[in-house]
Amino acid sequence: MSVTEDRLAKLRGRRTDKSDRKADVGRVDWTSWPVYDAAGAGLRNYWYPVIWSSEVKRKPKSVRVCAEDIVLQRDEHGEVFALHDRCPHRGVRLSQGTEEFPGTVSCPYHGWTYRLSDGELVAVITDGPDSPMCGQVAVATYPTAEVAGLVWVFIGDRDPHPLAEQLPEELVNPPDYAVGGRIEDRPGDWRLYAENGFDEGHAKYLHRTSYWRLFKVMPTWNKIHIHREGRWLYRMEDERYWEADFPGLGKWSNDRWWKIKPKQQQGKMLGNTGGAKKNDPYIVSRDFPGFASLAAPGMLRIAYPQFIHYEFYVPIEEGRTKYVGVMVQFKTGLAKAGFYAKYLGGIRWLFHGNFSSQDHWMVAETDAPPERLYRPDSSLLEWRRLIEEGNPFDVGTPVSLDRPEVES
Ligand code: FES
Ligand SMILES: [Fe+2]
Repeated sequence: MSVTEDRLAKLRGRRTDKSDRKADVGRVDWTSWPVYDAAGAGLRNYWYPVIWSSEVKRKPKSVRVCAEDIVLQRDEHGEVFALHDRCPHRGVRLSQGTEEFPGTVSCPYHGWTYRLSDGELVAVITDGPDSPMCGQVAVATYPTAEVAGLVWVFIGDRDPHPLAEQLPEELVNPPDYAVGGRIEDRPGDWRLYAENGFDEGHAKYLHRTSYWRLFKVMPTWNKIHIHREGRWLYRMEDERYWEADFPGLGKWSNDRWWKIKPKQQQGKMLGNTGGAKKNDPYIVSRDFPGFASLAAPGMLRIAYPQFIHYEFYVPIEEGRTKYVGVMVQFKTGLAKAGFYAKYLGGIRWLFHGNFSSQDHWMVAETDAPPERLYRPDSSLLEWRRLIEEGNPFDVGTPVSLDRPEVES
């Protein structure tokens, strides 16, 4: 054995010893959060944004949400309907079919024809106008709505609560606004996407190399606490450190000569960069306690000085997530056109492309649980606690359980 190999073997040995000693200390799986743990295919009794409104026309369109196959289609008046994407006759997907009569969808196989508004079988083309099947069969329907250029579908087992109660409040009766965004089906658990979105520790380190942050210094580390307001959790910064001296190792900072450090006061800034000269008055008027907030069922809101960025983590099924990233700017007229020009001219790629791809890369790499959490992960723990309380739109009593804490 060479000297180097000997040394490596010793180092490996030491590391093994240490991890053996510590193997079970603070190491947790998700059974401490039973509701969360069981929600691999998504949380039910919520509205989910599933597709751009502009993509739903009179031709049936299929989507999969919370492990349910759904067909979306507009009727002759422009209203969107959602039906279970399965013909009761022989189980063929209705999304492969066509609209043969206004306001209906016909299965491609034998022409069973369902009314969009209530899913009832209203004609069987290959069985004649007097088919006895009519009125005997129906497919399930889903409540739908359209807001922010998106089609929303309610997935659940009870009558839906109004979408307005679940939307970010600022999108209910807002001033005119422009929307840009990206929807992508991605591998990875929706819970890992939600946790990544709200994960305090990652942005300043992982995203320091993104082009979006090319000219902005990110703090090296900070101290935070999570603030709860209604159904929202906010990340609140208590202390910020632009650089740090690690004993025996040296200084670390991502500051470079070409980067700009925000000057704004801690606690007063909007957006994680601060330093903006102009803040949008509507966003300021919302008076968010912190720039990053998260609510069920996986809705992240980042309030920047000039726009709000939302991420909706829509479960497709266990292990697959529809990433719905939406940027909203409260502008009218020409300014609105300016937003679209800027968004399509660069922001879409910089922010919803390059920047977000770093998150998607890490979610794909995440192999948890088991996990060992650290101080900034209080953001994840509070989120899991929130989900354990149950659906705030259901009638019921919130649950309170003792759960492991982060290591301090
Ligand atoms: S399977 Fe749909 S009509 Fe036969
Ligand atoms: Fe991120």
